[in-house]
Amino acid sequence: MSTHALQAMKKLDSFLKESLRFHPLGASSFQRKVRKSFKLSTGETIPAGVVIEAPNHAVARDPAAFEDADQFRPLRFYEMRQRPSGETAPKHQFVSVSAKSLSFGYGRHACPGRFFAANEIKMIVATCIVRYDVRLAEGQTERYRNLDFGASVRLSFQFFISSYGFHLPTPLREKTS
Ligand code: HEM
Repeated sequence: MSTHALQAMKKLDSFLKESLRFHPLGASSFQRKVRKSFKLSTGETIPAGVVIEAPNHAVARDPAAFEDADQFRPLRFYEMRQRPSGETAPKHQFVSVSAKSLSFGYGRHACPGRFFAANEIKMIVATCIVRYDVRLAEGQTERYRNLDFGASVRLSFQFFISSYGFHLPTPLREKTS
C-alpha cells in the first residue's frame, strides 16, 4: 500500500478521527507538572508544584466545539475537509492536533508517532475490509462495551470541569448519577 493510497483514504481517516473524538482514550490527554507559577490571560494563577492536564474528553464532547457533539458521525471530518475553505482542510485529518483535537497531545510534545499510527491503523482496517466479511458473533446483537480506563481520574476530573464550568460529558453524568 503506497503512501499516496493511504493519504487518499479520506473517509477512513475521518472515521478514525471521529472514533478517537467520540471514544477518547481517557478523560485527559496529557499532563504537565508546573515548575514555575504563572498567570493565565483570564486572571487565574496556576501555582508551582501542581499537575495540570488537558481536558480531552470534555472538549471532544463540547457542543460549542462540535456540531451534534454527542452523536457519532463517521464522515464528520471528511465533510469538513470538503468545505470550500480548502486551506482549513489539513486541520481535520486524523493526525492533526489543535485545541479541539487533543488526543495526540498538543504543541511541542504532541505525539510524534501519530503519523506511523495512522498508517498502521489504515492498513489494518483496509486489510480486514478487503480480506474478510465482518459480522457480529453468533447470538450477539450489539458490539462489546469499550474498555474503560481511569475511572478514578474521571471522578476527580468531573470535579475539576464542574468547578470551572466546562460542559460535562454525558458518560460522566451517567456514571455519577
Ligand atoms: C493512536 C495511537 C496513539 C495515540 C492516541 C498517542 C497519544 C499520545 C499522547 C496523548 C502523547 C502525549 C503528548 C504530550 O505530552 O503533549 C503522546 C506522546 C508520545 N507518543 Fe504517542 N500516541 C499514539 C501512538 C504512538 C506511536 C505508534 C508511537 C511510536 C511509534 C508514539 C510515540 C510517542 C512518543 C515518543 C511520545 C512523547 C513525545 C514527547 O514527549 O515529546 N505514539 N502520544
